[in-house]
Amino acid sequence: MLISLLQLHLLAGQDAVRAGYWFPGSEFPVSDIDSTLFTHLFCAFADLDPETNQVVVASSNQAQFSTFTQTVQQKNPSVKTLLSIGGGSNTIFHGLDLDWEYPSSATEMTNLGLLLNEWRAAIDNESTSTGNSSLLLAAAFFRSSDYYTIDYPIQAIANSLDWINVMAYDFYGPLWSNLTGPPAALYNPGNDQVSGSYGVSTWIQAGVTANKIVLGLPFYGYAWQLADANNHGFFAPSVGAALSSDGSAGYGQIEDFISENNATTVYNSTVVSNYCYSGTTWIGFDDTQSISAKVSYAKENGLLGYFAWHVAADDDWVLSQTASDTWGA
Ligand SMILES: *[C@@H]1O[C@H](CO)[C@@H](O)[C@H](O)[C@H]1NC(C)=O
Ligand SMILES: *[C@@H]1O[C@H](CO)[C@@H](O)[C@H](O)[C@H]1NC(C)=O
Ligand SMILES: *[C@@H]1O[C@H](CO)[C@@H](O)[C@H](O)[C@H]1NC(C)=O
Ligand SMILES: *[C@@H]1O[C@H](CO)[C@@H](O)[C@H](O)[C@H]1NC(C)=O
Ligand SMILES: *[C@@H]1O[C@H](CO)[C@@H](O)[C@H](O)[C@H]1NC(C)=O
Repeated sequence: MLISLLQLHLLAGQDAVRAGYWFPGSEFPVSDIDSTLFTHLFCAFADLDPETNQVVVASSNQAQFSTFTQTVQQKNPSVKTLLSIGGGSNTIFHGLDLDWEYPSSATEMTNLGLLLNEWRAAIDNESTSTGNSSLLLAAAFFRSSDYYTIDYPIQAIANSLDWINVMAYDFYGPLWSNLTGPPAALYNPGNDQVSGSYGVSTWIQAGVTANKIVLGLPFYGYAWQLADANNHGFFAPSVGAALSSDGSAGYGQIEDFISENNATTVYNSTVVSNYCYSGTTWIGFDDTQSISAKVSYAKENGLLGYFAWHVAADDDWVLSQTASDTWGA
């Protein structure tokens, strides 16, 4: 009986994932999320109590977290919610998501594998003993299957998780790159290994099947201050961050910058990245063309879906709508 149910579950597979993260620091009301554009919403972040190993939600977030599912299901009753743990079970969400940025030694990778195996055992055990369906179990990982040559525990990941969120962004930013760059390039001629497509291919090659991979879409970009206003392509010299201390800017904010400054906008379809510039301010980001091309890539390559970091950075749901329409088309 148990075996046939398990087989059914495997045959049915996981439905496509069109997901987004929300976090309280965005100061975006949960009730304003257009949940009709998503199949899954991540509520970020809970913490792990280092002494008890229990999942804890900061008291300042408890009210919003405890009503998150109920609130987002008002517009879309079938949306599923996952509690993201930065750094555990909970019946007010449909699943759990681990965001550990980043396990960076062989020991930490081994411990990650042990943690995932224990979670899976506990979740299966809980659903067997309650008769309730299993919580979903996901995790957000680095763009590639190794973190600067330290391999992720692939076997535990493949066996334990319903899917992985591949953080295919933050490749270039003004605090760690003194040249401008496509922050979330899908392709990167000449720097191939710093690209989303390369990262996804490493996960597949390592043994995570495409239908368990969810591609990350950044609803934000990075702003650099150009060394020379007349040298404004990719990999142009810069003298630091613009617009904010680390140069990060949400899509809505970038759209405002473009219209207020009559900035020049460029879409490079080879790289799959947008950028804009005005004077010495240069911003690399994903506009609708990049989002659409990435979602098409995800679909054509048999990936499970996409997720956005983060829903509140969108501009009146333009990117969320583009992603959803592209996947649906
Ligand atoms: C499995 O569930 C039972 C009953 O809820 C519990 O007593 C037991 O400790 C659980 N085992 C594990 C490994 O979680
Ligand atoms: C089963 O799930 C329902 C709703 O998700 C919850 O109210 C109930 O407490 C769960 N049952 C057990 C035994 O955990
Ligand atoms: C940029 O960084 C590289 C290496 O980190 C360094 O060699 C180069 O001089 C820097 N260029 C500028 C313009 O700061
Ligand atoms: C905006 O820039 C374009 C060229 O990039 C120029 O033709 C146009 O006159 C500018 N408009 C304003 C209001 O500055
Ligand atoms: C797109 O960017 C790449 C990488 O910098 C560059 O080689 C190429 O010329 C660009 N394409 C266009 C049409 O500007």
